[in-house]
Amino acid sequence: MSAAESAPGKGAKFLELWETPLASREKFSSWPFEQQARYLCLLAHLAPSTHNTQPWRFWIRPSERTITLYLDRTYVLPASDREGRQATISIGCALEHLLIGSQYYGLTPVVTLASVDRSAVRPREEADASRYVEVATVRLLEDTPSEEIPEEGLVRAIFSRRVTRAEFDPTHPLPETLVEKILAGPRGSVARVHPVTSAVARRMLAELQGQADSYVINSPAFRSELAEWMLPNDIESPLGMPGAGFGLNDQEAKRIHEGLRAGSLYPEDGLKFSMAGKRGIESSPFLGLLTAPREGVAEWLDAGRTLAYALLLVESAGFQAAVHAGIAEVPLIRHMFRAFGLEGPLLGTFRAGRVRDPQHAQRPHSPRQPLDRVLLWEPPQR
Ligand SMILES: Cc1cc2nc3c(=O)[nH]c(=O)nc-3n(C[C@H](O)[C@H](O)[C@H](O)COP(=O)(O)O)c2cc1C
Repeated sequence: MSAAESAPGKGAKFLELWETPLASREKFSSWPFEQQARYLCLLAHLAPSTHNTQPWRFWIRPSERTITLYLDRTYVLPASDREGRQATISIGCALEHLLIGSQYYGLTPVVTLASVDRSAVRPREEADASRYVEVATVRLLEDTPSEEIPEEGLVRAIFSRRVTRAEFDPTHPLPETLVEKILAGPRGSVARVHPVTSAVARRMLAELQGQADSYVINSPAFRSELAEWMLPNDIESPLGMPGAGFGLNDQEAKRIHEGLRAGSLYPEDGLKFSMAGKRGIESSPFLGLLTAPREGVAEWLDAGRTLAYALLLVESAGFQAAVHAGIAEVPLIRHMFRAFGLEGPLLGTFRAGRVRDPQHAQRPHSPRQPLDRVLLWEPPQR
């Protein structure tokens, strides 16, 4: 499945969900459970996801007061996400949005993880391999203890957040209190954020990211997969990443999309692509490495929760952030990264800071498919 294939045609811009007004607590509490659950799924659907694949599906059961999260394996990308790690981390991001939202509205979410083997979240290869994988069920009890209620700014950030792939101002650090909250992570997550503080480690990370990006551009499998998800600005697809999100104008976005597809990028395009991530990392006052004690579906979900929580904290404090999965997913680079001597496996990286050029913080949001496309009203067949 590619982003372009899912475009139903011209007309919709697929940006409407970002305009949803924040429901007041009073209004929310007057709604029936089904409407509350829909709204919480909307918050989850605005989460970041790898290549903007939005691989989550939500099954709402009003009689049980539960929302079950599924991974739709059609959207696990075979070249760049061979283990399903990044897709599962993305579901963890959606889960964190759902948890923050439900607590904000005075509900206590009780999460039960399904027991899922790593092999169950890999890309769907054979036609008969099961499509939907149940990953977690959230039961929503009434009455959240007041000390667990998130600040309104964190919920507002769900609607304003976006990934900002731009250079940041290295002389404008994140406040210490913000860094402390990022490092503390969300309650109950076993994933950790390790800040990169030394100049040498930063340069090494930037170099590895540059290497990972140039591998992506030069590997036919990675490159043609990316072409299906890195889109021209005017395609009006509900999935995928329009070039505008990379700071590309309409002409450049079209050329890069077509060049990736045909393997005919200009040499300088390839260079620019790998330099952008490298420069981004070099310019960022905060760099976080995402790790967990071990590889596994539960740990990847926690990594997603930790990542989404960090991105919302950053947004609510008026800073910007970008995510880089290349170091964790390009096999050779992942191997080289062992030199960093982290305790657990590296699952991803992100950077935060304030954009050097304020206009870069105003780039359009990325599309989201209509909410009804990710809601299930009965358990999926397979
Ligand atoms: C697990 C994960 C991995 C990601 N990896 C990358 C990446 O390697 N490079 C990148 O530019 N963006 C990456 N992103 C950001 C997504 O492309 C972005 O979330 C998606 O396009 C939707 O855009 P939005 O977050 O602005 O709504 C990643 C996001 C997630 C959740």
